[in-house]
Amino acid sequence: MKKGFVFDLDGVITDTANLHYIAWKDLAEILGIEIDLDFNEQLKGVDRMTSLEKILTYGGKEKDFSVAQKETLAEEKNKHYVELLQDLTPKNLLPGFKEFLDAARARQVPCVVASASKNAPFILQKLEVFDEFTAIVDPASLTKGKPDPEIFIRAAQSIDITPEEAVGFEDAQAGIEGIKACGMFAVGVETTQPLEQADLRVKQLNELSVDELLQK
Ligand code: BG6
Ligand code: MG
Repeated sequence: MKKGFVFDLDGVITDTANLHYIAWKDLAEILGIEIDLDFNEQLKGVDRMTSLEKILTYGGKEKDFSVAQKETLAEEKNKHYVELLQDLTPKNLLPGFKEFLDAARARQVPCVVASASKNAPFILQKLEVFDEFTAIVDPASLTKGKPDPEIFIRAAQSIDITPEEAVGFEDAQAGIEGIKACGMFAVGVETTQPLEQADLRVKQLNELSVDELLQK
């Protein structure tokens, strides 16, 4: 019997994965690097600086910038990304998410956000669901990013359950790997590519029943 739900944010609760892509693509272009949607799969679930480093390596420019310059580039990307976030409203919740969350809350199932994004609290407020989560893991407090399971272990701890007692929802391969590495049940929300290792795969959360998942 499961006792809690752990949600990734970008690509699971809302389609900000696409806004991250737009902001990274624009920055990469300025640096003379062209990225496409296929490459973008590698950036999903990955923190801001690691994403920048992956882009620079992809473009063969990994040695061209100092740490301080990379920090400035990451800040520039984030400034653009935050501009793109200003127009978010509850209409940007992915189909089925709010219904699923409401059903979980009606059964008193605690729900936690486990996102690598430092913008998560702001986004959840724009989507008007911030108060509906029992906890939000602070990514700044983590020592390792996804695919390491640390963020999912911390999410389970925040609601006093073991990872085995939780169900994790992810749209990124790195996230699914983190969920599985700590023994959590993994629901893969597939948009583009198949998610390997997921225990269950869906396109949208309205394909799922809270009661059935709690029995897993
Ligand atoms: C993850 C996204 O949720 O958060 C990544 O999938 C993103 O694409 C990461 O880079 C960090 O987000 P932010 O908002 O802190 O730059
Ligand atoms: Mg995601």
